[in-house]
Amino acid sequence: MSVSASAVPVAHTRTSVIVTCILAALAGLMFGLDIGVISGAQDFIKQEFRIGDDQISWIVSAMMYGAAAGALAAGWLSSALGRKRSLMMGAVLFVVSSLLCSAAWSPEALIAGRFVLGVAIGIASFTAPLYLAEVAPERIRGAMISMYQLMITIGILVAFLSDTAFSYYGAWRWMLGIIAVPGVLFLIGVFFLPFSPRWLMMRGRRAEAEQVLLKLRGERAEAEHELAEIAEQLKIPQRGWHLFQENSNFRRSVGLGVLLQVMQQLTGMNVVMYYAPVIFKNMGYDAHAQMWFTAIVGLTNVLATFIAIGLVDKLGRKPILYAGFVVMAIGLGVVGSMMHLGIKTHAEQMFSVTMLLIFIVGFAMSAGPLIWTLCSEVQPLKGRDFGIGCSTFTNWVVNGFVGLTFLKLLDHIGAAPTFWLYAAFNAVFILFTYWLVPETKDVSLEQIEANLMAGKPLRRIGQ
Ligand code: BGC
Repeated sequence: MSVSASAVPVAHTRTSVIVTCILAALAGLMFGLDIGVISGAQDFIKQEFRIGDDQISWIVSAMMYGAAAGALAAGWLSSALGRKRSLMMGAVLFVVSSLLCSAAWSPEALIAGRFVLGVAIGIASFTAPLYLAEVAPERIRGAMISMYQLMITIGILVAFLSDTAFSYYGAWRWMLGIIAVPGVLFLIGVFFLPFSPRWLMMRGRRAEAEQVLLKLRGERAEAEHELAEIAEQLKIPQRGWHLFQENSNFRRSVGLGVLLQVMQQLTGMNVVMYYAPVIFKNMGYDAHAQMWFTAIVGLTNVLATFIAIGLVDKLGRKPILYAGFVVMAIGLGVVGSMMHLGIKTHAEQMFSVTMLLIFIVGFAMSAGPLIWTLCSEVQPLKGRDFGIGCSTFTNWVVNGFVGLTFLKLLDHIGAAPTFWLYAAFNAVFILFTYWLVPETKDVSLEQIEANLMAGKPLRRIGQ
């Protein structure tokens, strides 16, 4: 951007930054609440409906499949209705479906409620980062992605804590219903947001786009400059599907985005997010200890995200990913071995918990935030929406698969081999990172695109 930061009146910069931060915060928070809320409720739901692992697995995973469907629909919605209205739709669905879940009269009703909740979060998880990228000043765009991930982890922690509090009363309906409150706050917040200037320009509403930008930036020169930039970008039509059919280099970047999200999910992180109390039960802890340790998992996840935020622009993406996968492989490998040997004494219990927390640190400092960052960096401009849509969709589908299969794996192959399996995935991902993942630190998106289109190997497109 040619206008220097100092030329922009601070008050106006602040307003736009604050508005976008609040939105990022609330959308990320909702994402996290959705992920975290089900772990503490499962046992009570099982007891009330007298159901087994199969149905519980569906109740857990219906949300992720809903989110995959929501993410698919969100591309079209956010272009037809606009970002703001899609976000409002996501928020309304979120509130209605959390209330539906809390009032569920049968396992099937709960599965349906969780599916709709997922659709809401699928829409929000696609649209919020898109909207943010379109309204945030360029200098804070990178920070927004980290902020978004941080808020996901805070949402998970808040859900774990509220689950822990309600667990003393066995109040699973409250656990699932209470998240309607942040949903309402999100709806109110979105109501006051401006339309995205880029979307207004896509619709040929230049004058309105100019007004919004003037309000957000406070400086006519900066607003004009950005407007011209948007107009320039819009000359490159988004033609993802055609490009995908015609251009093998684009197929490579889409494939990379999809693979990165498969890797993120097969680390096994969500096994812990959805089933931490079950894991602690396997380590021999009683019901209340299970809930408190789950809350500690949530807190560790939040705190370790700061390691990534602090290091990502200093060390680069690849060293952090290597470190993360090594830590995760060791953490889960040792947890598996402890389960194999049998966890009997207090010291063995504490050691196993510590290794599980080390695994969480490994994820939060690396694959958690970095995979999302990489997925948005590797796609060429004219196929960005399509490319990011494919990887986000993959994130939710594999996420659902992990949620659906964990209890079955425990049942069929046992706890130790299940953890070893995920440890092995993490070990293999060290090699994938070496062969396929580019280093994108300090490289402009234009350079990455030029390298990709010139046919450079994927791991070199950042050079
Ligand atoms: C992942 C989620 C995961 C969360 C945990 C996100 O980056 O996409 O699937 O639950 O991190 O913090």
